[in-house]
Amino acid sequence: MSASSVARAAARIKNAKRLVVLTGAGASKESGIPTFRDALTGLWANYNPEELATPEGFQRNPSLVWQWYDWRRQQLLEVHPNKGHYAIVELEELVEHLAVITQNVDGLHQRAGSKDVVELHGSIERFSCFDQRHPMKDIEFGLAEPPLCAYGNCRSKLRPDVIWFGEALPEAAISRGFVECEEADVILVVGTSGIVQPAASLPFAGKRRGAFLVEVNPEESALTDACDLFLKGPGGEVLPALIEAIKKMEL
Ligand code: APR
Repeated sequence: MSASSVARAAARIKNAKRLVVLTGAGASKESGIPTFRDALTGLWANYNPEELATPEGFQRNPSLVWQWYDWRRQQLLEVHPNKGHYAIVELEELVEHLAVITQNVDGLHQRAGSKDVVELHGSIERFSCFDQRHPMKDIEFGLAEPPLCAYGNCRSKLRPDVIWFGEALPEAAISRGFVECEEADVILVVGTSGIVQPAASLPFAGKRRGAFLVEVNPEESALTDACDLFLKGPGGEVLPALIEAIKKMEL
């Protein structure tokens, strides 16, 4: 990240009325949360996404899938939001309107204090039943099998409220995502490889309506060419530097 590109991004954000921050797994990397693929190591190295993160996989082996998500949910107890998450919270004070649109299921933006978070891929901390999607809360850790839905006579197995491969995104979340991006003056894209649809289309939808795209990532992604500015580096370093630059302009 060069000082001049940070200053240019800061100037754009300072003049923006509506800002979107679109995040992916990279935004949680410095909190120590492994990406989905990183997590398929160690104990879980012999499994693949089709077994662990599809409706068919769940139907074939519900206890395996339950235990995989239980393990990932337990990991969340030991981690904390990082400097990048907190910088995004600070941005709320610096622009009129900010929406965080995330592909992450870890709830770290909310834990950091972001007020308006759209979860495109659901949340690992919520549950609903497989058949009817009745929502269920307060599920204990360490169960070997999915508990059954307690709603009426349903008794369907509970599943995590995340979007699995082959499933549609929640309609309300993805439409809100498109509206926010289309109305945004600036879209800050943080820590996503930009290859999973439909989330990867959001920056393009914004760009078509004139949004200025700024990317924060230590590596180039599938979105880099479409972005107006590329701030190379980890979110936990680049985002606080961006906040500092915006604040300096306000003096
Ligand atoms: N700060 C910012 N970005 C980072 C950092 C960091 N510290 N570390 C890594 N990155 C970047 C990587 O360079 C990569 O571009 O984060 C991106 C992570 O890419 P993916 O793992 O593909 O994550 P994401 O784009 O969120 O994947 C989308 O795919 O696995 C499914 O449903 C899952 O929501 C996920 C979706």
